[in-house]
Amino acid sequence: MSFTETAIRAALGLRTGAPWTAPIEVRAETGSTSDDAKALAREGAAEGAIVVADAQTKGRGRSGASWHSPPGENVYLSFVVRPALSPAAVAPLTLVVGLVVRDVVATRIGAPVRVKWPNDIFVSDRKLAGILVEGQVRGDALASVVVGIGLNVKTTVFPPPLDAIATSLAREGAPDLDRASLVAEIVVGVMQATDRFAREGLAVFADRIAEHDALRGREIAVGGVRCVARGIDAVGRLLVEHTDGSTEAVVSGHVELAERR
Ligand code: BTN
Repeated sequence: MSFTETAIRAALGLRTGAPWTAPIEVRAETGSTSDDAKALAREGAAEGAIVVADAQTKGRGRSGASWHSPPGENVYLSFVVRPALSPAAVAPLTLVVGLVVRDVVATRIGAPVRVKWPNDIFVSDRKLAGILVEGQVRGDALASVVVGIGLNVKTTVFPPPLDAIATSLAREGAPDLDRASLVAEIVVGVMQATDRFAREGLAVFADRIAEHDALRGREIAVGGVRCVARGIDAVGRLLVEHTDGSTEAVVSGHVELAERR
């Protein structure tokens, strides 16, 4: 199936059993789908408004990193959710989104798919997908959240330095996947999980996050400091054990597997 608005609407309809009423914008090329979705959110677009691009010229990740976004191959997806959360409660949503993306891709490949704190999906210690959750605040309240997801679907050759650290569904043995179905499954899954997270908190996802944690028990480096990952706490922080035996709950930072350094 082609990667068109019609195909995505049809796939969403199949999953939900009802017509998708929010806008869906499919662009041949854009700067960043997350910038586009933020503009839609500012204009008052309903929850479920989706922007998908075949290519991005300014795809971005956390901490200003760029996201490799060649045409015709992958999913570059951003959509609007409007959860009943305070701005301070949004951060762990990244892990919840990660779990949904993990579940969607895990049904399509044989290898284990893991969530790497805070926002990556890993297969065989390589990055398959990245997640960018950005809240828009009005006054003291959360007006909207744009969930941005980059999923490597068909890319088989990555430019350096990504060639050493990235993978795709095609490279993991699923060469011919329909991007519209992936988009629909991810959007519906994330919207349901976001609603549950807003009502019940992170605790209901904790066991599954632990089950699929890419880092737990492994030697890592956080901001260049070697330590051992000891899981994720009740509010979504990464627990680490330092070489002197002390533990720390990390709120943000660049995390690498130590073997990589
Ligand atoms: C990361 O790994 O740091 C997150 C990467 C998120 C990339 C996606 S691609 C779709 C959306 N548009 C962007 O500009 N970024 C996100």
